[in-house]
Amino acid sequence: MNISVIGMGFVGLSMSLVFADKGHRVLGVDIDTNKLDNIRKKNATFFEPHVTNLLEKHFENNFNVTSNIDDVLRTSDFLFVCVGTPSDPKDGSADLTAIKNVFRLIGKSLNSKSDGFQTIIMKSTVPPGTTNMMKEILEQESGKLVGSVFGLCMNPEFLKEGSAVNDMQNPHLVVIGTNDESSKSHISKFYESIYSNENIPVLHTSVSNSEMIKYANNAFLATKISFINDIANLCNEIPNTDVEIIAKALGYDPRIGPLFLKAGPGYGGSCFPKDVQALINFSKSIGHTSSLIEATHEVNQKQPLMILQLLKKKISNLSGKTISILGISFKKNTDDIREAVSLKIIKELLNEQIIINVHDPVALENLKQVFNDKINYFSDWKECIQNSDGCIILTEWDEYKNISVNDFAKNMKTPIVVDARRILEPTKMNSIDFTAIGFTK
Ligand code: UGA
Repeated sequence: MNISVIGMGFVGLSMSLVFADKGHRVLGVDIDTNKLDNIRKKNATFFEPHVTNLLEKHFENNFNVTSNIDDVLRTSDFLFVCVGTPSDPKDGSADLTAIKNVFRLIGKSLNSKSDGFQTIIMKSTVPPGTTNMMKEILEQESGKLVGSVFGLCMNPEFLKEGSAVNDMQNPHLVVIGTNDESSKSHISKFYESIYSNENIPVLHTSVSNSEMIKYANNAFLATKISFINDIANLCNEIPNTDVEIIAKALGYDPRIGPLFLKAGPGYGGSCFPKDVQALINFSKSIGHTSSLIEATHEVNQKQPLMILQLLKKKISNLSGKTISILGISFKKNTDDIREAVSLKIIKELLNEQIIINVHDPVALENLKQVFNDKINYFSDWKECIQNSDGCIILTEWDEYKNISVNDFAKNMKTPIVVDARRILEPTKMNSIDFTAIGFTK
């Protein structure tokens, strides 16, 4: 099949490479020529396991890139739209500018030069009603009806940064939202070709359900995290409690399940914060108040401050002190710092005239673009904590798991440590001033 993927972000690129690996010819499109130049040099521009290997294997064979969308419109059997739907800074609503532009271009091309049936697949996360709005654009621009010479589907993705390739190869579910039989039949055959030998469930439903499934999925996971963070904050006030044990017990209840109950500094990244806010805004736009989702967002907004409070309980006057931060990316195995809690914490600490040392195995270059010379960057965690008055562990990188109590005691000026990710065993840290989210002695 000839496939084009519009938008070479982490979803678009990871997905393209998995399709190429399954033997399809894939052309990736993006307006960012710098990004495309990097891809041509087999550099993904972001850190994502397996992406570089797949680029080396498939670039110029099954996979290529272009900045000219016209190159793909005529020849593609399947057009996947993976462009961003960023938060509008005014009200958190999903900004659909890029989506609308892409659908207009696709619609025009359907009118002028396409031949054969083409299926257009919405992959971007969009509020309910958007795909139908795009249907109108396609039909207006092309003068043709969906289901005649082209199909339209909403096919949300559930892949996570840091395991995008693996999630794409082994999804827990494929959701296919269509409103007509031709579109349903074409996209179903496509996914049969991708997952032919695997036992992967496929859910066929309406376009609007598909849009809502994606938001509900992300909002539910975000709610689980805010819930356990709320419990963790409570535990920090109750002697002899440990949120890790409480989460473990909850996880045994099959009605709850063990995943996404890891207390921490709050969720970040390019998806949960944006999608939760977009859902809140969407609800408001139709006159509804989503109280639970609003509470999820509110808990998450406050969570970085809860971490800072744990530090401030140990160091009452932070001014002029040096604080080391281990971990910058919004979670491990990615260099992505979008909506990372580290950004909020660094901003707060800078306001209080604190000297900040940071370490991260892969995200330092991204952080330098934000804070320049306002903070100190270290590629070695030991040097980062050297002579510092306090340390916060903000990302759960594996390399921090082996830091010993002696490492803190020997290297820091005063060994005061806040583990915001629960990666160190508190009982092994008795000889230093150690605090962890959701744990009290
Ligand atoms: C998330 C969803 O997990 C994917 O299913 C979805 O496809 C994706 O958003 C998207 O909409 O594109 P992602 O943002 O890559 O994926 O990362 P997650 O692994 O879900 O983590 C999000 C945040 O929650 C991170 O800051 C992480 O540290 C935090 N988290 C996660 C916790 O604090 N506790 C947990 O138990 C789990």
